[in-house]
Amino acid sequence: MIIRPTRPSDATLLPAIERSAAQSFTATENLAWLAGHDVLSVEQHLGFIAQGLHWLAVDEHDQALGFVCASAVDDTLHIEELSVARSSQGQGLGRALVGHLECRARDAGFKALSLTTFATVPWNAPFYARLGFQRLDDAQAGEFLRQQLRHEQAIGLPDRCAMGKTL
Ligand SMILES: CC(C)(COP(=O)(O)OP(=O)(O)OC[C@H]1O[C@@H](n2cnc3c(N)ncnc32)[C@H](O)[C@@H]1OP(=O)(O)O)[C@@H](O)C(=O)NCCC(=O)NCCS
Repeated sequence: MIIRPTRPSDATLLPAIERSAAQSFTATENLAWLAGHDVLSVEQHLGFIAQGLHWLAVDEHDQALGFVCASAVDDTLHIEELSVARSSQGQGLGRALVGHLECRARDAGFKALSLTTFATVPWNAPFYARLGFQRLDDAQAGEFLRQQLRHEQAIGLPDRCAMGKTL
């Protein structure tokens, strides 16, 4: 497995990876509907790629297996989406993608990472906690994260939390 910057020509493959990744929620009673939920559009992916904030995990044949994309919010790199295709999950790709993003963030001079995620889904907040992220309460989360959580609540995502990691 190799992690490389995502190219514009990869973008059309990415919605299918996110849909495949979301199949992991089918076994979670109140989140099974996420398996058919909207995913990032090709245009949104192209935006992150243009910023140089999109990375792809590929196999030895350059077949895409998973991705992570982010946006810059002041001196914080905010993880927008992390997805590993269902058939490639549980092999360390998710951990490697976050590790790669963290290295690139340090190189670029970002001071912190942030994200929002499901608080109790085992491969969400507990997974990030093992990678050194800490849960942020309302006071610790800045306005961007609070707005993100309000938006996620408004679209019906239950039990979301904000997390951060100082670099
Ligand atoms: C989250 C996700 C990217 C993890 O990718 P992955 O390649 O399967 O992750 P890894 O193999 O690196 O495993 C990371 C950890 O999660 C755990 N994990 C992964 N899938 C799991 C599952 N279905 N149930 C319980 N734990 C799981 C692994 O045991 C591992 O634990 P460890 O930290 O003790 O080693 C992947 O499950 C996914 O795409 N999920 C759907 C989208 C999503 O939830 N994205 C993150 C939201 S912010």
